[in-house]
Amino acid sequence: MLKQTLLYTGKAKSVYETDHPDHLILVFRDDASAFNGEKVAQLDRKGKVNNLFNAFIMEKLAEAGIETHFEKLINPSEVLVKKLDMIPVECVIRNYAAGSLCRRLGVEEGKQLTPPTFELFFKDDALGDPMVNESQSVALGWATEEQLAQMKVLTYKVNEVLTALFNEAGMILVDFKLEFGVFHDRIVLGDEFSPDGCRLWDKETKKKLDKDRFRQGLGDVVEAYEEVAHRLGVNLDSI
Ligand code: ADP
Ligand code: TMP
Repeated sequence: MLKQTLLYTGKAKSVYETDHPDHLILVFRDDASAFNGEKVAQLDRKGKVNNLFNAFIMEKLAEAGIETHFEKLINPSEVLVKKLDMIPVECVIRNYAAGSLCRRLGVEEGKQLTPPTFELFFKDDALGDPMVNESQSVALGWATEEQLAQMKVLTYKVNEVLTALFNEAGMILVDFKLEFGVFHDRIVLGDEFSPDGCRLWDKETKKKLDKDRFRQGLGDVVEAYEEVAHRLGVNLDSI
């Protein structure tokens, strides 16, 4: 599969066309950013760790019957994926309160949310990814009601599968964000699942093992991502 025209340079990945119209290559870079691009850094190895981690998770989700864009790893930084028509609405599930939910509602970090909450965010850097609701998303033409319903069911299914997976490895899946797209009329999971787009805490110590280490200046960001990968049995030998 040949990497051709650069289609898009995002905050953490670059997207290339390939010689097949249904496929793209995603290149995971070492760039980290937070607070809508206010805080940026280069974190050595992050791109490779996230790419290998994401491949592992996407394979677990596929085994659980969730269709994803993952096709195959090309090398430690690059992955071949299905080219999706991305839906600009991000799906967030929270099992415990953290981040913007605490700021918005004055809730204490760590409060268990029963049942887990489901939220939508409009993917727009200029607006800082604002929270939106279903009727706004439909009225503004970002997704149909049916697509949103499918995305919600799939996000809860991902939560079930990954909560169990992380729990077995001694971690709490606090919250996470997913992006979906359309592939030949089907809703398919796209983008990535990595510690950049979720919150993970050690079950015993509540140590943060995700991007909050970068946001909050806690240090050892990639080391924490590698610890998560090792606990799950992700093979990082190729890095
Ligand atoms: P951002 O756009 O938030 O800066 P990234 O740096 O991760 O994010 O860039 C990757 C981009 O590729 C994102 O905009 C994401 O929506 C898009 N993307 C992810 N997977 C696919 C896919 N399978 N098909 C098309 N676009 C995708
Ligand atoms: P939040 O607390 O900032 O709203 O984020 C909830 C979770 O979703 C957290 O794990 C980070 C993730 N997330 C992203 O990675 N990107 C986004 O654009 C949004 C809105 C959330």
